[in-house]
Amino acid sequence: MIDNWIDLENECMKCTKCELCKTRTNVVFGVGNKNAEVFFIGEGPGENEDLQGEPFVGRGGKLLDKMLFSVDLSREKNIYIANIVKCRPPKNRDPKPEEQLACTDWLRNQFAIIKPKIVVCLGRIAAAKIIKPDIKITKEHGIFFEKGGVQMMAMLHPAAVLRDPRKKPEAFRDFQILREKIKEICNYTYSDDE
Ligand code: URA
Repeated sequence: MIDNWIDLENECMKCTKCELCKTRTNVVFGVGNKNAEVFFIGEGPGENEDLQGEPFVGRGGKLLDKMLFSVDLSREKNIYIANIVKCRPPKNRDPKPEEQLACTDWLRNQFAIIKPKIVVCLGRIAAAKIIKPDIKITKEHGIFFEKGGVQMMAMLHPAAVLRDPRKKPEAFRDFQILREKIKEICNYTYSDDE
């Protein structure tokens, strides 16, 4: 375990633990506030993320930023965002189990340094890896599970919401549920709190 963020990031940038290192443009380590109480976890970088070296910067990322904004959260301010795998799977295929396994230590180390109170998994792949392998995302998104003293919730992946905009109300509702949990357990005050 590396206890210093800079060293961790530098080591991760050089990673060759799996095949994905051969086809990546950039390692997508993560972005946000390292003191955040809320940690968002996606699946893996897509094309835009690979080119820019930052998670969720494509159309899905714009929608994610909008939903975050609706509950006073932002990657610049009070959350951290990373992915299960730090390098883009070719043609945006699902990351293979062995790639996820090879990459887990980076995420575990990020988690150990940030020590978030809440983890939000974006989409089934992240939720299955982090919350429980058999999670049914359509039924179980928006529900908090407690694991090792951390509150964990799955949300619909922003790309899935873009593919089916009828899911937008459900997706925004999950952010309201998150907001209530933040009010309950985090040291973060909303301006409309009485
Ligand atoms: N989808 C993800 O799961 N992560 C990203 O960073 C971008 C798209």
